[in-house]
Amino acid sequence: MPTKVRSHAKINLGLGIGAPRPDGFHALTTVYQTLELHDVVTVTARRATGTTIRLTSNDARVPLDSRNTAWKMVELALGMLGAKAEVEIHIDKRLPVQGGLGAGSANAVAALVGLEAELNQATRESASAIRTASWLSRRTAIGAKVGSDVPLFLIGGTVLGVDRGQEVYPLPDIEPVWCVVAKPAVGVSTPQAFRDWDALCSAEGLTAEASTDKLNELSRAYASAFAGGIPRVGQGAGSSGVLSVGEDLAGPQESALVRTGISSWIQNDFERVVFRQHPSLAEIKRLLAASGTPEAALHASLSGSGSALFGLYLNRGDAEAAQARLTAAGVENELTRTLPRQKYWDEMLLP
Ligand code: C5P
Repeated sequence: MPTKVRSHAKINLGLGIGAPRPDGFHALTTVYQTLELHDVVTVTARRATGTTIRLTSNDARVPLDSRNTAWKMVELALGMLGAKAEVEIHIDKRLPVQGGLGAGSANAVAALVGLEAELNQATRESASAIRTASWLSRRTAIGAKVGSDVPLFLIGGTVLGVDRGQEVYPLPDIEPVWCVVAKPAVGVSTPQAFRDWDALCSAEGLTAEASTDKLNELSRAYASAFAGGIPRVGQGAGSSGVLSVGEDLAGPQESALVRTGISSWIQNDFERVVFRQHPSLAEIKRLLAASGTPEAALHASLSGSGSALFGLYLNRGDAEAAQARLTAAGVENELTRTLPRQKYWDEMLLP
């Protein structure tokens, strides 16, 4: 029986970037947030004498060979488990490729979750190897090898990311809020955006020490704001912490993002370089934010290095008004909601 897995998008609720490091990466401090919006990854795996991987997708832009993150993840996981299998992976793409929504990284985790479920069904030995605590920690290490954005999807919900983004810690979930994702037609290359950031740093004379101080301070600010200010799931949004379709937030007509003051200081450093290259994206942020109006977003920002942007709204009406503004401007968009950790895991496997 094939295993169907939801492969969710993420946004960055804030993203601070440091100076370039000798290893070619950049230190960063970010808060990731998973969304209900998702691709679907279908995995079939059979024990075999040798490993073969076959990939298909409904989207021609998805690489179907070992460059694909799902392929890399499955190959590494089988190697670590000492298992051999014939694996088929189908990626049903709904999220933009190169969108800053972590779609490729989420596909890698969905493929792993699908593989584990398939091997669990297939043999008892693999099942026991998969259930061990050492496997749970090793899969995070495998994820980090595949990409800096992969490990966050092994936690889900609201997640603090440090180092190059691969070192992740669960934060208390924010109450679910409505989210409009704008999907501009342009694609942004993440390595290019980092190179543009380097040019900006050298022009502004940002030293490695100053950037380390900046990121450490940011990590502390995030940790204390989330730990102190965000109520446990259930306190603000009904006992499950989950909204049913069409429902607005119960309780105080204010989000923790605002109540704790987080939304007044979080920002994405990539906006400084990406908006310069693509001024149309700054205009889309303005449409999402609607600052100073009764329908204003709680927060609006570029996600990762873009090109996707998002706006967060307390009620569905404000989110739909944002969608109407984007649609009138010819910008593709989707309505979704932020996805807390428990629901992320509970609903990951499709029936
Ligand atoms: O880790 P990942 O494969 O997602 O990174 C893609 C590229 O983005 C890296 O090769 C590097 O150029 C850049 N990057 C970076 N600093 C990070 C994450 C990624 O410079 N923290």
